[in-house]
Amino acid sequence: MKERGNFGSKMGIILATAGSAVGLGNVWRFPYTAGENGGAAFILLYIGCILLLGIPGMVSEFIVGRHAQANAARAYDVLSKGLPWKFVGYLGILTSTIILGFYAVVAGWCLQYLWASIAGQLNGDADYVRNYFMTFSSDPLKPTLWGVAFIMITHLVVVRGVQKGIERASKLLMPMLFILLLVLVVSSCMLPGAMGGVRFLLHPDFSKLSGSVMLEALGQAFFSLSLGTACLCTYASYFSKLTNLLGSAGQIAILDTLIAVLSGLLIFPAAFSVGVSPDSGPSLIFITLPNVFQQAFAALPVVGYVISIMFYALLVFAALTSTISMHEIGTAFFTEEFTLPRQKSAWIETVVTMLICVFCSLSVGAIPSIKLMGFSLMDFCDRLTANFLLPSGAMLACLFVGWYIPKQIVHDEFTNGGTLKGNLFSIYLFAVRIVCPICITLIFLHQLGFV
Ligand code: TRP
Repeated sequence: MKERGNFGSKMGIILATAGSAVGLGNVWRFPYTAGENGGAAFILLYIGCILLLGIPGMVSEFIVGRHAQANAARAYDVLSKGLPWKFVGYLGILTSTIILGFYAVVAGWCLQYLWASIAGQLNGDADYVRNYFMTFSSDPLKPTLWGVAFIMITHLVVVRGVQKGIERASKLLMPMLFILLLVLVVSSCMLPGAMGGVRFLLHPDFSKLSGSVMLEALGQAFFSLSLGTACLCTYASYFSKLTNLLGSAGQIAILDTLIAVLSGLLIFPAAFSVGVSPDSGPSLIFITLPNVFQQAFAALPVVGYVISIMFYALLVFAALTSTISMHEIGTAFFTEEFTLPRQKSAWIETVVTMLICVFCSLSVGAIPSIKLMGFSLMDFCDRLTANFLLPSGAMLACLFVGWYIPKQIVHDEFTNGGTLKGNLFSIYLFAVRIVCPICITLIFLHQLGFV
C-alpha cells in the first residue's frame, strides 16, 4: 500500500487545520458581512451557529475522514456500503473548487496591496485610498494576473506535500498573525471617532434580525470553519489515531471566532474614524486599513510602513493556508481516484480554478456584464457556495454520521477507541442527529418563504 502523508505533530495538526479555517473569511468576509447585516446582533447569531451547528459539523467531517483515511469521495464511499453517499464527497470537491476560484481573486488583491505597501503607494488621504482601490480593481489585467499568480503559489506548495509545506509554514506564521492583529486592534481603537465602530460591533440591535440574516450567519460560520466541502474530512484523513476530535474542533472554532471578532474590532473603529460606511461591502478592508496604518502611526511613519507590510504579508499567508486546503481536496481526489501522479492531479485542479478565477475577477472589474441571476459572477459564486452548498454539505455530513454509519464506529472515533472519557458523546449524537438537520432545514425553508 502506498504511504499517505501525515501531519507530524499534535500542534501541527491543530495549526494546519486552524490555518485552513483562519483566512480571508475572518479578516475580509466576516467584517463586511457583519457590517451589512447589522453588526452586533449578527455576531451573536454567528457565535450561536458556530457552537450549535459548526462544532458538531466539524467533528462529523473529522470522523468520516479519519476513519476512512482517504480522499473525500472515497471516504464517503468506504463507509456507505453500496449506497451513493459518495456524491457528498463529489459535492465537496465541486464546492471547494468554486470557492478557490473566487477566493483567489481577493487573495490576489491582498498580494497587490502587499506590493503597494512595499512600494509606498498607499500613502494619501481617505479619498486617495478609496480611488486607489477603485482604479486597481477595475483594471482589466492587474487583479486577474494577481489572482492567477496566487493559485500558482498555492499549486507550488501543494505539490510539495502535506508535512514539509503546509505544516511547517503554519507553525511559524499563525502565531505572528495573531500578535500583529492585537497590535492593530489597539491602534485602530485609538483613532479619533473610533468608539462609534466599537459601539456598532458590541451593541446588538435585534430589530435587524431576519431569516436572511440567519442564513448569512450560518453561511459565514460554515465558510469560516471550512465546513461543508469535505475539506476537514480530507485533513482529518492525515490526523493520527490519538487526535482528540472534539477537543481539536473546539480549539479551532474558538481561535477562528476570536480572529474574526478581532478583525471586526480592527476594521469598524477604523471605518467610523475615516467615515467609511460599515456596510460598504467587499472593498471594506481595502479602503479602511491603509488609513489605519497611516493615521495611527502618523508620528512614526516608519513604524506604520513596516506594520503595513507585515500585515499584508500575514494576510497573504493566512489566505494561502486556506487556499492550500481547498486545493488539497481536489488534488487528493484526482491522485487517489484516477491513480495520477500528485503533480498531474494538482495541475488539473490548478487549471480549473484559474479559469473560474479569471472570470470572477473580470466580473467585478473590467467586464461587469458577466452576470448570473442578476449578480456578478463573483457574487454569485460566493452566495451559491456560502448560502447553499456549504450548509447542504454540512447537513449531509451530519446525517451521514448521525444516522447512517454504525454507531460503534462513530463512538470509537469520537472517544479514540474508548480511551477518552466524558459524557459528551450523547450530546454530540443528539446535535448531529436532530439539532443540525432541523436548524439548517428550517433556515432554508424560511429563506424560501415556507415557514
Ligand atoms: N475557512 C477559510 C477562511 O475563512 C476558507 C476556506 C478554506 C474554506 N477551506 C475551505 C471555506 C473549505 C469553505 C470550505 O478564509
